[in-house]
This record gives sequence, structure tokens and C-alpha cells, in this order.
Amino acid sequence: MIRYLSKVGKKRLGSTAVVRLDFNTEDTWRMETAIPTLKFLLKRKCKVLALSHRGRPKGFEKKFSLRKDSQKLARLLGKKISFIPHFRFGDIKKILDQANPGSVFVLENIRFLKGEYQNSRELAKKLAHLGDFYVNEGFPISHRNDTSVAAITEFLPSYAGFQLEREIKYLSHVVANPKKPTLIVLGGGKAGDKLGILKFFRKKADRFIVGGEPANTLLWIKGVDIGDSLAEKDNRKAFLPLLKYKKLVLPIDYHIKNKRILDIGPRTEKLFAAEISKARTVIWNGPMGLFEKKGFERGSLAVARAIVSNKKCFSLAGGGETVMFLREYGFFNKFGFVSTGGGAMLEFLAGEKLPGIEALEKSKK
Ligand code: 3PG
Repeated sequence: MIRYLSKVGKKRLGSTAVVRLDFNTEDTWRMETAIPTLKFLLKRKCKVLALSHRGRPKGFEKKFSLRKDSQKLARLLGKKISFIPHFRFGDIKKILDQANPGSVFVLENIRFLKGEYQNSRELAKKLAHLGDFYVNEGFPISHRNDTSVAAITEFLPSYAGFQLEREIKYLSHVVANPKKPTLIVLGGGKAGDKLGILKFFRKKADRFIVGGEPANTLLWIKGVDIGDSLAEKDNRKAFLPLLKYKKLVLPIDYHIKNKRILDIGPRTEKLFAAEISKARTVIWNGPMGLFEKKGFERGSLAVARAIVSNKKCFSLAGGGETVMFLREYGFFNKFGFVSTGGGAMLEFLAGEKLPGIEALEKSKK
């Protein structure tokens, strides 16, 4: 059973919390969602040691340092934060022991440490020794079987933070009882990452509308000339069966620049909007085009407008680019739920067990 931080009541938690966060986006949105959990811990006079990663470094890589992230977090929290740029565990323990209640520390990128990617029990023990309890407030990293996400829960009493709890609640609801008709909108890059959700919802969803790289890949397999557009051509075998889905709706026209499809076209916008207007649940991951470039935001705008103007549907969105788009164009607060996860949201929605969540369920400490 997962222990939720929101349910601890007056129970004594211990003086130092080791908190797993995820700073791995260009903007600060993920950090912002962790603030209520951090404030809660500070109100309980806990010291906080925040762990996070950025990028996929192999050993120390300066460009992935968390120094700047710790400053951003301090601004959001309205509180001084000390950055710990090394992994000398003995020294870190002393610093924490001597710190006043309510002090916050951010440790350097946890992925610089040998063993983090390996779910190492040895490293987990060392990390656990730094605190009295553990909080997972990193839903977006919870699909990784990493030490600071999974193994650490064997050695410390472990809790789910407030945002992780919301993610579990909303996403489980959609997985278990999506209101019909259910429509899934997929786009953006990383076409292969979207295969799981397409397969899992094959029977549950009523429509899949597809843009971006997943659409390019499918169009290419169908024999459409996609020029130099992004497509996962080496993943042909995995995508081929999807063309048999009767529920699949692909673009019928496009915006092309320099031989690359950069957005869906106006007839596709209408087609997709008409489908969206009939739905009662919409799940959206991945923009329709290269919205960061002026002129190629129109497809995503059409989709977003259609979703928010359908007052009868529950709308759920996630993924780094999609969230950036929703924030930039003012749709963010108009969605039923916006997940902090990208890959994690897709895996959860595809019915997979996430190692970070499973670890919290199993944690006996
Ligand atoms: C994400 O940004 O999706 C998470 O932080 C996971 O990052 P990863 O794909 O490098 O493990």
C-alpha cells in the first residue's frame, strides 16, 4: 500500500526528508508542481535534501549540473537553498546534521553518480543514510528503475508526494473507466514511445487522431511521399499493424516547408476538430506540428480549441512539448488534468507498472 504524504496527519516523520524531484524540462513547471510538498515538509520543520537529474549524462558533465536549477527552485520556494556540488557522503551527512530545521539542500545531478541507472542497493543504502524518510515527488521519472526512484525505498520509510498522488488518482481513473467515446490525440516526436498507448487502448479507445512524427511514420508506411519529414523508418515492423486500426484518423493535408511536413493542414484541422467534438474523454500527448516555429502552431491550436470547447469531455494532457504549448497559448488551466509526465504518463496509461510506484507499494520500512 502506498503511503501518501497527504494522509500522514500528525504522525512524526523524522527530521530529514530525502525527496526525489524531476527538474528535467526547459521550463520550471515540474518544479512548480513540487512546491506544495516541499512547503508541507518545511512546515513540519523537516530538513530537505532534494535529489534530481537532468539529461542523460555518463559521469560528470557540467552542462547537466543542477546548480542553476537549485537557484530556480529557491526563487519558486521563496527560500535560501544550499547547493551541494559533490557526493562525499560523510561530509553531506555532517552538513545535514548541523543544519537548522527547515533548511533545504539540492544535491548535484544524481545521474553523475555511478550506480544511479543500475538501481544499485549499495548506492541506495548510502543515499538512505542521509535522511530519515523518503518522498517520491518525481512522477516523470517514476518509469525508470533507478536507484533514487526504486531501490532507495527498501531502506527508508517512503511516501508519495502530493503531485504524485494526483497523477496516480487522475491517470488511474482514465485507465479504469474512460468515458465513451474516448479519443486519443498523439503527435510530437519519439514516435516509438507512443506505440504502447496505441496498443493498450486499441479496444478501449474509439478514435486515435495522429499528427507529428507518428503520423509521418504511418503515412510513409502507407506509401505517401513524406519527403525529408521526421519518421521512425527503422520501426516499420512495429507500426505496420496499426494501419489495420479502423479507429485511426491520419492527416489528409499538411503544411510543408523544405520538403518536411511541419504541421497538419486546414482540412485535417477540421477533420480532427469534428472527431474531438464527439468525445467524452480526450487524452493528448504531442503537438500536431513544430509549434515553436511561427506558422506551424495552427494545427495544435485547432486541436486545443476543439478540446476546450467540448464542455462534455474530460481532457487530459501530458508530455514536455504539449505542456509547453498549453502554457504558451493559455490553455493550461482549461484542461481537466495536465500530467507532469511524458514517457511516465504514456507508460501508466498503457497499463504498465511503473518501478517508482511499485517500489512505494512494496516499501515495508
Ligand atoms: C523525462 O523527462 O521524461 C524524465 O525526466 C525521464 O528522463 P529520461 O527519459 O532521460 O529517463
